[in-house]
Amino acid sequence: SIMVLDYGSQYNQLITRRIRDLGVYSELLPHTTTAREIKKCAPKGLILSGGPHSVYDSGAFNIDPAIWQLGIPILGICYGMQLMMRELGGEVEAAGVPEYGRAQLKLTTSEDKLFANTPLQQYVWMSHGDRVTKLPQSFTVLATSEQTPLAAVGDLKRNFYGVQFHPEVQNSEYGMDILRNFSFNICQAQANWSMTDFISQQVAQIKATVGEKKVLLGLSGGVDSSVAAVLLHQAIGDQLVCIFVDHGLLRQGEAEQVMASLVDNFGLNVIKVNAQTRFLAKLKGVIDPEQKRKIIGNEFIRVFDDEARKLQGIDFLAQGTLYTDVIESGTDTAKTIKSHHNVGGLPQDMHFTLVEPLKTLFKDEVRELGEQLDMPHDLVWRQPFPGPGLGIRILGEVTADKLAIVRASDSILRSEIKNAGLQEKIWQYFTVLTGIKSVGVMGDGRTYDYTVGIRAINSIDGMTADFARIPWDVLAQVSTRITNEVAHVNRVVYDITSKPPATIEWE
Ligand code: XMP
Repeated sequence: SIMVLDYGSQYNQLITRRIRDLGVYSELLPHTTTAREIKKCAPKGLILSGGPHSVYDSGAFNIDPAIWQLGIPILGICYGMQLMMRELGGEVEAAGVPEYGRAQLKLTTSEDKLFANTPLQQYVWMSHGDRVTKLPQSFTVLATSEQTPLAAVGDLKRNFYGVQFHPEVQNSEYGMDILRNFSFNICQAQANWSMTDFISQQVAQIKATVGEKKVLLGLSGGVDSSVAAVLLHQAIGDQLVCIFVDHGLLRQGEAEQVMASLVDNFGLNVIKVNAQTRFLAKLKGVIDPEQKRKIIGNEFIRVFDDEARKLQGIDFLAQGTLYTDVIESGTDTAKTIKSHHNVGGLPQDMHFTLVEPLKTLFKDEVRELGEQLDMPHDLVWRQPFPGPGLGIRILGEVTADKLAIVRASDSILRSEIKNAGLQEKIWQYFTVLTGIKSVGVMGDGRTYDYTVGIRAINSIDGMTADFARIPWDVLAQVSTRITNEVAHVNRVVYDITSKPPATIEWE
């Protein structure tokens, strides 16, 4: 493996991701990790990530000096390079003008192992306010750029390297080659990280942890909990008991699909709880969006809790926690911490040991795992769907009639997007039942009915989004079908707002 110490750069997960893409296992560790702890994982090499600070800031993130004595290759990127330089006897100063964006890098030698098989001149991505002004004695310059004379440096004896640019981002033309060279030429790591190995390792580990005991898992119908369930089932069969709460706020056919694929195809032991009326009763008369979210979240926990208490002899609770969830709530370094809510959360007073078989995986790796486990493509590539479901896609009070309208219109939108071959090109798309009623004409009569909104966006992580440019013809077809086929809708509008200022969901 190659470990990455996290100094808080927005790109730090990308480094781990890229190393894994090379077939070498990689994990992000807090920058406070000690040399002893690193030694325990026996990595072939170490990468120090970039970060938003200056090395001379008070409170700047540091490094355990014993790490320099571990005898493994180390690559410092941006802040990581500056830290390495300062710690080993060099100097770092403010750059005068910060450098952001593309820069031309010139190698000083064609012999170096880090840049092997890359051209003498290449474009790289810079993003820094400080720069190294003096090298420690044992280091030489490997590359320069116009604004950054010490753009890449190395201590070839100790295999310590530093680069001021970001090889992990795509704008660095040969970034992947540089990381490959570091991993294989310099660290001599082996490319032995693959999904099939992961499955057999996890299956063995789950068996060892769980033994003869029983495991409970809450299925939401989403990708993560479904993949976790199928993986666990492969390891321990019917010792896994799943609870699937149908809160009545799912999309058309969704509950049936989840049951069909997981129960019929994979033989999972699923207890389906039909809690539609319970949720509708709680939501009656409630208009405020935050109130609706809270009610749905709390009720979810209560229903899950009620069911779980009926079961005997369960020691473990499995969750589909992903690596990004762990990083976001786990390390003390990242600045962009977002609170995430696994659907339902944990019932407060239940005492289970957690099993989280996906917690080292990124979302796309979970999808790959799902494919490897022969799960249905549509389930594995399901678009994001909020925990409160259609409850926040009906503006104002949620009623059974309104749910029928969003379900029918959403189903038409989904099928037309699929017909147009766009379903994997748009990140998320759905309809909302706006609170608007307006005048229309149908046949010879006046109507006064609902307006349905179409929301379709592209995004990387849901934090920002741009509305999708769906072709007019596709939109026309969706509009015609919705007004013809869905009772009480006489108008369809397309939401052309980005996030910010709007959010993706309407509530
Ligand atoms: P917003 O509306 O905040 O949504 O721009 C960003 C992304 O998050 C999803 N979303 C949720 N997911 N529980 C979830 O699991 C929630 O309460 C929730 N609210 C919004 C939304 O669908 C979008 O993908």
